[in-house]
Amino acid sequence: MGKAEGRNQTLIMEFILLGFGNGPEPQPLLFLLFLVIYVVTMTGNSLIVGLVAADQHLHTPMYYLLGNLSFLEIGYSSTYLPRLLASLLTGDRAISIKGCIVQLYFFGILITAESLLLSAMSYDRYLAICHPLRYAALMNGRVCCQLVVGCWICSFLLCSVVNISLFQLTFCDSKEIDHFFCDFTPLIKLSCGDTQTLELVTFVSAATGTFVSSLLTLTSYVCIITTILRIPSTTGRKKAFSTCSSHLIVLTVFYVTLITVYVVPTANTPKVLHKIFSVFYTVLTPMLNPVIYCLRNKDVKESLRKALLKLIAFSNSLRGFKDSL
Ligand SMILES: *[C@@H]1O[C@H](CO)[C@@H](O)[C@H](O)[C@H]1NC(C)=O
Repeated sequence: MGKAEGRNQTLIMEFILLGFGNGPEPQPLLFLLFLVIYVVTMTGNSLIVGLVAADQHLHTPMYYLLGNLSFLEIGYSSTYLPRLLASLLTGDRAISIKGCIVQLYFFGILITAESLLLSAMSYDRYLAICHPLRYAALMNGRVCCQLVVGCWICSFLLCSVVNISLFQLTFCDSKEIDHFFCDFTPLIKLSCGDTQTLELVTFVSAATGTFVSSLLTLTSYVCIITTILRIPSTTGRKKAFSTCSSHLIVLTVFYVTLITVYVVPTANTPKVLHKIFSVFYTVLTPMLNPVIYCLRNKDVKESLRKALLKLIAFSNSLRGFKDSL
């Protein structure tokens, strides 16, 4: 028997994304906060995509993977942040049902690809650190390309299965989505059809996506850390360890919050907690990744320095050109 039994059957055409408050008034402070976050995320990640594309020294599998990660993060921040910014500024929180599902679709593909790509990156580091002599043979441009394409195809397939069924749902329960973007769990709660099969399918694909990639990542890092602990020099060990531990912190936060939100049965998790956890993997990960993975790295710093010098030389020559006119 449908959930709609006994309720009035007015079909809903649009949703209200409640976001971080209950009233429809603009929230300028939150707007500023998220604007800063968006600008920082876009700048950091675009910088990395640009550097990886432009600098010959960064044309290696590790940086290709990092470039792809940044590219993904630009994409998935852009699936929900512009919409959130607009509604924080104007107070208009309505979103059409189609718009909502499309947002969820792109967000899903990109975040799944991100979690797979992170495990591909940890596999790359595992090969480099634990099998340095065989690294060049095991990881080259072709393998790297296959990994990247594999991540995209897997996430596309996993999310498409879920999303095709989402389009067939009808909504008649309530208009209000208690979240800051269209996410699966809050959306499914508003449906008046039978959602059990869909929930099962989603559970299986989310669990496969997140468990497999987090296990791969974890295994790689366990091997990396055991290798590091065998380094004889203390300074070498400390340096390698500090890099790895910062990666591990971001990865742990990303995977733990992702699994808590999508895999652990959500019926009993308070909504506020759901929202807070979502902030971690949607907002913090894409903002911090460029800093953690790249901007502390010697090669990237060097490449950035050269790019800046070129930019200064270029603007000086432009000025010289203008003066000579
Ligand atoms: C993504 O990876 C592919 C394959 O390795 C590479 O050719 C491409 O340049 C990368 N993209 C970015 C934006 O770094």
